[in-house]
This record gives sequence, structure tokens and C-alpha cells, in this order.
Amino acid sequence: MGSVNPSIDLAHDGEIAVVTIDNPPVNALKHEVRAGLIEAFQRVKNDAGVKAAVLACAGRTFSAGADISEFGKPRRSPGLIEVIETIESVGKPVVAALHGTPLGGGFELALGCHYRVAAPGTRVGLPEIKLGLLPGAGGTQRLPRLIGPERALQLIVSGNPTPVEELAQDGVVDAIVPGDLRQEAIAFARKVLSERRPLTRVRDREDRLSAARADAGAFTRAADASTKRARGLRAVPACVESVRNSFEKPFDEGQARELALFMELLTSEESRAQRHIFFAEREAQKVPDMPAGSKPRDIRRGGVIGAGTMGGGIAMNFANAGVSVTLVETAPDALDRGLATIRKNYANTVSRGGLSQEEMDRRVGLITGTTDFNALADADFIIEAVFEEMGLKKRVFAELDRIAKPGAILATNTSTLDVNEIAATTKRPQDVLGTHFFSPANVMKLLEIVRGEKTAFDALATAIALGRRMAKVPVVVGVCYGFVGNRMLHLRSVEAERLILEGALPQDVDAALTEFGFPMGPFAMSDLAGIDVGWRIRKGRGERAEISDTLAEMGRFGQKTGSGYFRYEGGRTPVPDPEVEKIIIDASNRLGIQRRTIDSQEILERLIFPMINEGARILEEGIAYRPGDIDVVWVYGYGWPVWRGGPMFYADQVGLGYIGDRLAHYAARSGDKALEPAPLLARLAREGRGFAENKSEDKAA
Ligand code: 3HC
Ligand code: NAI
Repeated sequence: MGSVNPSIDLAHDGEIAVVTIDNPPVNALKHEVRAGLIEAFQRVKNDAGVKAAVLACAGRTFSAGADISEFGKPRRSPGLIEVIETIESVGKPVVAALHGTPLGGGFELALGCHYRVAAPGTRVGLPEIKLGLLPGAGGTQRLPRLIGPERALQLIVSGNPTPVEELAQDGVVDAIVPGDLRQEAIAFARKVLSERRPLTRVRDREDRLSAARADAGAFTRAADASTKRARGLRAVPACVESVRNSFEKPFDEGQARELALFMELLTSEESRAQRHIFFAEREAQKVPDMPAGSKPRDIRRGGVIGAGTMGGGIAMNFANAGVSVTLVETAPDALDRGLATIRKNYANTVSRGGLSQEEMDRRVGLITGTTDFNALADADFIIEAVFEEMGLKKRVFAELDRIAKPGAILATNTSTLDVNEIAATTKRPQDVLGTHFFSPANVMKLLEIVRGEKTAFDALATAIALGRRMAKVPVVVGVCYGFVGNRMLHLRSVEAERLILEGALPQDVDAALTEFGFPMGPFAMSDLAGIDVGWRIRKGRGERAEISDTLAEMGRFGQKTGSGYFRYEGGRTPVPDPEVEKIIIDASNRLGIQRRTIDSQEILERLIFPMINEGARILEEGIAYRPGDIDVVWVYGYGWPVWRGGPMFYADQVGLGYIGDRLAHYAARSGDKALEPAPLLARLAREGRGFAENKSEDKAA
């Protein structure tokens, strides 16, 4: 409990006032914090005994910004700009004491202080762009005054936090202080007083703006590059305009325009979608029935079985998280191949400047390859990534049951097999779960954690914690064929194949999705993943996909063979291929399908609505706990544009009534019962509600 209000404390160390924000977990600048800061700094101003002040935060970080949960609600005075203006005009030096991740409004607050000291390793940034916004409390005006408009634009448009060590020489921080931050900040304030340093305000600095004022060419080039990459995202041109104002307009005018742009973006569909994903991503890690206090088990050593495409990437994930890992293969040559691929992947990152050679050596050093299964005896978390064959997986798990130490988590990376059946081959099904990584496993952020019937809560908590340590986005899902992501993807693939048989071409289908915002369409994606993968699976099950399997039989496996649905002329750019067009038209004729023109609206609806419908079934069956979990899966695993908020969020925007009608129409036309609206979707549509409004209290109804 602070002395000003529950979130703000004002204390004194002689003539230095120390104002502390204490609003766990990240000191977000909610209304009470803003009001308390104004009150505290008015007292600082009026107290003749106070000569300088320190602004610090309790807990794990200096403020990480505005309270995002307040966005979309009526604005309550005072705003953050008023807080910053109060501090700036307090008439006494104010030193911000930074640690952790001062982000967004938190960093803007620090830029409004006269001086800044930081603990080593502090990372600052303006991540508003990731919420579809621009910094709205002077960030686009003050940061350019410290580091120049071009560099400020880069930081603002990337949204990524930057270590203060990289920004210190620009005066973003005045000192990096190891040791007790509060004491160091107080000492710094005393030094400012004793040296009679001026009351510098960032808003008054002009020196870093003069180059852009004389010649804005470099800024314009940087701005054009950002806008081009932004593919129509509104927040990016808004950032550009606002940063440009920093050198073209007086501070107050620039700040007023920044606020107007911020308010405009705040009500945009894009920002709403991105804020939804921010919270959904965090909520997805919560298991509704998990008792409070379910603690993750200790993970000191990892194990991976199979050094193929997935196993190698998973071993890298352990090493990237700083966990030593044993990688087991059947034979020395397969092991050598796997380890060589790992080294090559790391070396590529080093050559691109993403990792130091020293760090690469450290990580490679954490991975021990072996053909001796018994080497897994001391592993705490073992992930199996052998071929996708139930018999083999069962043998591996029976063996694991024999050698793994008690309490070790036994995980399978299966993409289709029944995790409960695998768990049943052990005497410890409570320790068995699925960790479904996405390819390339060391790159893709999504991690579906598959909860088996008997998986223990602390085993689940361990998998979630490990996923976070690996910098993944974990989502807990239930057992079913394809889990959440691939189960929905399957419906899209079926429909994509139908569309080309009915009259569209692969390039038309892909264009509808890339225009929607996906990085690539279903056919370019098949070419990337390899057409032969699905072909082999279907052959095993006695199934056939007309076009895909014809292409595979011709050896057109996709990018790896230089052709698939498209041709690849030496690069990765898909080029439409008349030969494929002929194959498709022949197939339509052979199957007696009258080809017709299909517009992009129909293509989009037929690709996306069946997925949403399957999402509704996934919710009904309890395979996903929340619609937001499905959205997170699609944003992080399949390139769903984050500014469209994921399939279930998107469905609510379009309206379930419309989607239900269209599904019924497509089901009647094709005779495919799978397209008929799922009961949950149909009910919500009748009630005029969306998935987000399907609250748990009426789920049972
Ligand atoms: N507002 C409200 N809640 C926030 C929040 C914020 N700015 N930042 C984090 N939280 C909440 C999370 O939702 C989570 O809640 P939960 O425990 O109930 O799920 C909790 O704080 C902890 O967050 P994380 O799980 O993300 O904790 P990490 O330690 O992994 O990460 C972080 C900490 C790096 C600070 C990360 O939370 C983050 O990036 N936060 C968002 C920062 C941000 O976007 N700031 C800009 C806001 S917009 C703004 O400031 C506008 C201004 O320009 C006017
Ligand atoms: P892969 O064929 O590239 O690698 C499998 C490796 O396991 C091979 O190197 C093989 O020698 C090894 N192996 C086989 N039996 C073994 C045993 N008894 N002990 C130790 N090693 C053994 O296969 P991939 O693609 O890595 O797939 C592995 C698993 O991951 C499968 O279950 C697959 O369904 C799943 N998966 C694959 C994805 C992908 O995109 N490739 C994506 C997500 C999951």
C-alpha cells in the first residue's frame, strides 16, 4: 500500500523524493497509477524540502506501458500526456530508474523525465505497433529528438525492445548502473544537484533533428521501405506521418497530431484484433480446471528421440532455452546427419548476424548426440520425434517407460496419432502428453500441447513452462485427429482442391488468401511442405486427392523438385504453369465437372468458413477451451494475419448468421454434410451472438 494511493508510494531520502509505482505484474499505467503520479509529483513540486526526485517501479519491471485492458473503454482523466507534462514541468530534476522492460507508455514516461539511469540488461521499446497502434504519449516526438528520426522510425515500426547498452551513447539513458538501482538513482540525482546540471527536457532538444530538416531524403527512403513492407497496415503510415512531424512541426503540434492518430487507430478493427491476440495468447496458457498452485516440475536436462526434420529443431529449442539435451538416433549416420543440420542452421543464423559464434558454440555444446537409448535415463523432459507410425511410437514409449527416471515427462511430437493410446503403453500415463511443434521447429512459434485423458496437471504446467522458456506460444489442446490446427487446415485443403476442379486455378485460390493477408495460399504452401507428404499418407489409407496425387505421381513434389502446383524458376516464387492448368482441366472433364468462373469472394468463403465451422466443433468437443485459443493457433502456426485476429474472432466480425447461411448453401450445393453449420455455430447464429459471447455459464444449456 503506497502513501499516495494503493499503486503509488512517495518516500524521501533526505532531499530526494522517491516516487514508486507498484502495480503488479508489469506496472501498467492504469487510471489509479496516472492519478497517483500526478498527485505525487504535485507534492514533489510544492515541497520546498525536496530538491530532486527519482521515479522507480517495484517488482520485475519499470512500467511496460498503458493498461491495454482499459483500451476500448471510456477514457478517464488524467491521461498519460498530462502525467508526463506534470513531471516535465515539476521544476526539479526527475531521474527515472529503469529495469526490466520499460515499454510503450512506460518508456514514454521515462522520456518525459529529465534523466534516466538503467540497470544493465534493461530493454526499452515502443511496441504499440504490435497492437495496431502508434505510441500515443509523445513517443514519436521525443524519441526522434534523442536518436534521430530515421532510427526512431525503425524502432517504432519494428516494435522490438532494444537493450539500453545499444542506446546509451545517444542519451536515451544517462548511465547504466550495476548494483542497487534505487540507491544508484538517488546517488545520480544528488550528483545532478551537486553539479548543478540543467533541467534538460527531451522535448526541447533540436540537435538530432537538424539533419532531417536539411534533407529529409534518408527519412523518406526509410519510411517508404517500412510502408511497403506493411502491406496496407494502417498503423505503419500513421507512425511515419507522426515521426515526420517531429522534424517538420513544433513539438506541441506534433504531439496533438500523434494523439489524434492514436485515437483513430484505437477504434480500428485491426487494433481490436491485435489486442484480442495479445490477451488470447496469454490466456491460452491457462488450463481452466488446473488447481491453483500446480507447479511445473524441475527441468535440468532434456531428451529428444529422432534427429530428423523435427527432432533436430526440437533439440535446438532445448539448447536455445539453455537446457542441455541428449539427442538419440538409431544409427551413427542418421545421427551425424541430424547434428550436421543443427550446426548448419546455427551457422546460417551466425552468418546473418542473428547470433554470435560464441553463442552458437555454447548452444551446440549443450546438444549431445548418441545411439544409446539408455543415455535418456537422467532426462527430465523427453520428446519423441520418430516416424509417424503407431507401432514404432508404442515400442519407443515402452522402452522409455523402462529407462526414464520417475517423474520425467514423456512427450510425443506426433501430428496425427492418439496420445492416449501412446500413453497407455506406459505405466505412467500421467506423465505422458503431446508437444506438437510446427516445422521448422526451431523457428515456428506455435506449440500445441496435447493433454491426454490421464495427463497430470503438473505435467501440463511443466510443458507450458518449458514452451515459454523455448520462446514458443503454447496452447493446450485435447486429443483428436490433427488436434486444432491441422484438423481445421484439412477442411481448407479439401475445399481448395474442389475449387480448382470446379473452375478456379491454383493462382486464383492463392491470390484470394494472400489478398486476405496470409503470407501464402494453400497451393504455394503445399509446394513448400512437399506434395509427396500427403500423397504417401493417402496411399497408406487407400484415399486419393485427384490433382495433388496426379502431380505427385509425375514427380512434381513442389519446391524441392522445382515444380508442383506452380513452377519455380530457380527461386521460391511460384509461377503459374500452363501444364498444371491442363492437368486440372483434364481432371474436371474426366470427373464430368462443368467448369465455371468462381469469384474471389466465393473462394475466400469456401476456404475460410468451413474452417470456422470446424473450429465450432472443436469448441463443442472441448478440444480447445476458448475461441481465442484457436485464434492463437492460426496466427502463430499458419500465418493467419494477426490484424484479422484469428478465424473465430474474424467469424464474430463477419457475423455467424451470414456464415451459417453460406455454409448451408455450400453444403446443399455440394452435398457435403461436413459443410452444414455445426450445432454451436447454428445456435449462436440463431441467438444473434458470436463465439466470444458464448460464455461458460450458458455452455451447458
Ligand atoms: N496492460 C495490461 N496488462 C498487461 C500489460 C499491459 N500493458 N502487459 C502485460 N500485461 C499482463 C498480461 O496480460 C499478463 O496477464 P495475466 O498474467 O493475467 O495473463 C501479465 O501482465 C504478465 O504478462 P506476460 O505474461 O506477457 O509477462 P512476461 O514477463 O512474459 O512479459 C512484457 C512482460 C514484456 C512486459 C509483456 O507483458 C509485454 O510485452 N506487454 C505489453 C507491452 C506493451 O505492449 N506496451 C504498450 C502498451 S500500449 C501503450 O503503452 C500506449 C501508449 O503509447 C499511450
Ligand atoms: P523424419 O523422418 O524427418 O525423422 C524421423 C527420425 O527418427 C529419423 O531420423 C529416424 O532415423 C529416427 N528414428 C526412427 N526410429 C527411431 C528410434 N527408434 N529411435 C531413435 N530414432 C529413430 O520425421 P519428422 O518429419 O521429423 O517427423 C517426426 C515426428 O514429428 C512425426 O511423428 C511427425 O508426424 C511429427 N511432425 C512432423 C512435422 C513435419 O512437418 N515434418 C510437423 C509436426 C509434427
